[in-house]
Amino acid sequence: MQLTQRVSQVVPSITLEITAKAKAMRAEGIDVLSFTAGEPDFATPPHIVEAAKLALDEGKTRYGPAAGEPALRQAIAKKLREKNNLLYEAANVLVTNGGKHSLFNLMLAMIEQGDEVIIPAPYWLSYPEMVRLAEGTPVIVNTTAATDYKITPEQLRQAITPKSKLFVLNSPSNPTGAVYTPGEIRALAEVILEYDHLYVVSDEIYERILYDGTEHLSIGAVNDEIFRRTIISNGFAKSYSMTGWRVGYLAGELPLIKACSTIQGHSTSNVCTFAQYGAIAALENPQTCVETMVKAFTARRQVMVEGINQIAGLSCPNPKGAFYVFVDITKTGLNSLEFSAQLLESQQVAVIPGVAFGADDCVRFSYATDMDTIKRGLAKLGQFVSTLV
Ligand SMILES: Cc1ncc(COP(=O)(O)O)c(C=O)c1O
Repeated sequence: MQLTQRVSQVVPSITLEITAKAKAMRAEGIDVLSFTAGEPDFATPPHIVEAAKLALDEGKTRYGPAAGEPALRQAIAKKLREKNNLLYEAANVLVTNGGKHSLFNLMLAMIEQGDEVIIPAPYWLSYPEMVRLAEGTPVIVNTTAATDYKITPEQLRQAITPKSKLFVLNSPSNPTGAVYTPGEIRALAEVILEYDHLYVVSDEIYERILYDGTEHLSIGAVNDEIFRRTIISNGFAKSYSMTGWRVGYLAGELPLIKACSTIQGHSTSNVCTFAQYGAIAALENPQTCVETMVKAFTARRQVMVEGINQIAGLSCPNPKGAFYVFVDITKTGLNSLEFSAQLLESQQVAVIPGVAFGADDCVRFSYATDMDTIKRGLAKLGQFVSTLV
């Protein structure tokens, strides 16, 4: 069959491939230590599960409005107003099948052939592929550990052309865990406002997973002007350990949200109705479950970062958010695919090669795993690297 040009240029997810290989090795009885998870290793908090069960018992099992249950749209708008200082109403919110789907809807509604989308690298691997699926052009801007893998205002300015339509900002970041400071966010907003044709999508899916008292400022909250140029993408997966529930959201100006809602109305329709009631419970109850999770991540992060920086030949910044460390492997002389494949083969330790995120000199470790795995994995990593450096 002749497949479309559109799909031919999109590459399958390397993350999913490595994760599948590690799982297959496990199925053969091999003790694989996996640092690949893009999801918290905790159960969804019981009050969220109970709310969804109750919704099922109450018969909330039918089609709902394509844009989401009104009560959830309202709860999200309230959260955006009160927590993020973003003055949205329920009508500005579209409930989607996860954060991934909200970004995909956005690309389809906003991007077409000839449009450029600026993406700082290392990036979450789906951004460029989504842009390509929408027939736009990803413009990748490389960042380094010297700026904690954050794009500078100057780099952003240099990447802007008359065709630039959208800038993708992800803070806290997957894969680096970097968090832009309020000052850095303001400086980026200033650059965006110099160009009338440029919008910014702020992917805030890790906004609650922060360390050392780090503050998260949503770029849309900087001032009224940038608010009008901002689109927010977020979801429940990471903060509430709800990856399988598939609930996310997009917030922005009304015409955009209506357009995305129309796309959704002809593609997926509403998000699973009773899952949306779990999401309402997540927002409307105390956030202690998030705090408990962040506490566990904090302890693991410390062991990971210290352990990695003690291995001669490896280094990583101390990430301020999310649950990943991004490790520079340049001194090993291997590229990221060779490093990951050999580490898995020789030590049964699974990590994600940085090439998947546009950075072939690094690999990503997720510490959304237990402390025992972290300690044993670090020992094996040290053994592996000692044979190379
Ligand atoms: C940066 C980033 N954005 C969005 C998503 C999408 O999350 P979901 O579709 O599970 O809500 C992920 C998931 O890994 C992510 O890391």
